[in-house]
Amino acid sequence: MMQKISIAALTAALLASPVAAGTPVLKERATSTLSPITITGNAFYNGTDRFYIRGVDYQPGGGTGTTTDPISDATTCKRDVQYFSELGINTIRVYTVDNTANHDECMAALEAAGIYLVLDTDTPLYSLNRNEPQESYNSVYLQSVFATIDAFANYTNTMAFLSGNEVINDANNTDCAPYIKAVTRDMKQYIGDRGYRSIPVGYSAADVSSNQFLMAEYMNCGTSDARGDFYAINDYSWCDPSSMTTSGWDILVQNYTGYGAPVFMSEFGCITNTRNFGEVAALYSTEMTGVFSGGLVYEYSEEGNGYGLVTISGSSVTTASGFNYLKSAYASVANPTGLGGATTSTASSECPTSNAEWAVSGSTLPAIPTSAAAYMSTGAGTGPGLDGSGSQDAGSSDNESPGTATAGSGEVTATGTSGSASSTSTSTSKSSASSLAPPPDMAAFSFLLITVVGFVGGIMAL
Ligand SMILES: *[C@@H]1O[C@H](CO)[C@@H](O)[C@H](O)[C@H]1NC(C)=O
Ligand SMILES: *[C@@H]1O[C@H](CO)[C@@H](O)[C@H](O)[C@H]1NC(C)=O
Ligand SMILES: *[C@@H]1O[C@H](CO)[C@@H](O)[C@H](O)[C@H]1NC(C)=O
Ligand SMILES: *[C@@H]1O[C@H](CO)[C@@H](O)[C@H](O)[C@H]1NC(C)=O
Repeated sequence: MMQKISIAALTAALLASPVAAGTPVLKERATSTLSPITITGNAFYNGTDRFYIRGVDYQPGGGTGTTTDPISDATTCKRDVQYFSELGINTIRVYTVDNTANHDECMAALEAAGIYLVLDTDTPLYSLNRNEPQESYNSVYLQSVFATIDAFANYTNTMAFLSGNEVINDANNTDCAPYIKAVTRDMKQYIGDRGYRSIPVGYSAADVSSNQFLMAEYMNCGTSDARGDFYAINDYSWCDPSSMTTSGWDILVQNYTGYGAPVFMSEFGCITNTRNFGEVAALYSTEMTGVFSGGLVYEYSEEGNGYGLVTISGSSVTTASGFNYLKSAYASVANPTGLGGATTSTASSECPTSNAEWAVSGSTLPAIPTSAAAYMSTGAGTGPGLDGSGSQDAGSSDNESPGTATAGSGEVTATGTSGSASSTSTSTSKSSASSLAPPPDMAAFSFLLITVVGFVGGIMAL
């Protein structure tokens, strides 16, 4: 959802804690019963069973613009886990966490309730700036991303990481795509090089009709080291009462048929009419499960835009009508048996050709900034948390991409300094960025005739 930071909501959330006594305490399980979610072909698996995300987006205090971490507060987390259980969900998505905070208690409460986490690794301060993707793809940013990975990689119920949310939010900023994909590649490499379980990494795309599917193809084209492990879409086109054809979900299914990686809805839940979640029956029917692996309803708490399933006031939670509709929808719709039409093989897509709707040619990505590459072997160290001066304007010739990378070939073709970030950028937060960034293509980099061979290869061998 594209939304602005609500200072009022933020203040309310801060004032809301601590929670009053008398909040019921969650029963704890002796041992973990959750196994890590894996990917085969275009679907997620829990062991040999297909896994469908049945979830809600969870960010009390605001969406992507928030500066509070909802899963570092064990009290409010445990309070809300009971509502998650009542809804019958198995996954939450969290948009922003503090990578210096401890999440053990909340993650254990979620695990005890059988709930996985899909986590955005960006924060409002540490993220790509869609107006200046080149300058904001820097090692200060990647350090924060990697520190977040460190903080969550050990939890078996960390299901997946989102390498960005709606960075492309309009018809005219597809030039961000190479940077988003580079971040995805870097995260995958970090997870591998640090010896973590292979936690899936993918991007969450805004509901922009002219480029959402092109971005899907782009994220799945080229060499496998840089391809997204899955693709997530935010989609609000099913407005009750609706149908596969009225909503256009039939076209979605058509488009994503043959896509070589899992696809799910990282946000859904139109509020135009009575919100009785008729789309749940469609989403978990075999009409869709051949390509979709479920989704997450936007969003748990009311944040002033009408999407909340509950209203949080102080320490109390009040359910709205949508909560009960969603609860009965999830309860009455079973998953298909067996594979549900999933394919067991993967395939890459053709990279979209550049045209009026897609400002990128080919699959060439910026190489990882040299100082960020060092984290692959040393680890990222302590993250910045939600404070600090942020990364969006922290770019400099020392910490930006040294040029273009030849993905997957074990070499970097360093084709130029990406220009010093002296480009005095007026700070634009990710959630409010709106102007078109500089030319998109890697061709727009100023080329230096330097070829550094074996750079990535050396890192990968570490
Ligand atoms: C995962 O599979 C196990 C074994 O079949 C099952 O007991 C459990 O309920 C499943 N968990 C989820 C979240 O699907
Ligand atoms: C993750 O687990 C490994 C192995 O048990 C341990 O060395 C590491 O410190 C843990 N990391 C965190 C952040 O808890
Ligand atoms: C489906 O694919 C077509 C052709 O590539 C594209 O124009 C359209 O926007 C896509 N629609 C959706 C909903 O993905
Ligand atoms: C991009 O498009 C939006 C409208 O969708 C517009 O507000 C914005 O100014 C455009 N940016 C540029 C640089 O043209």
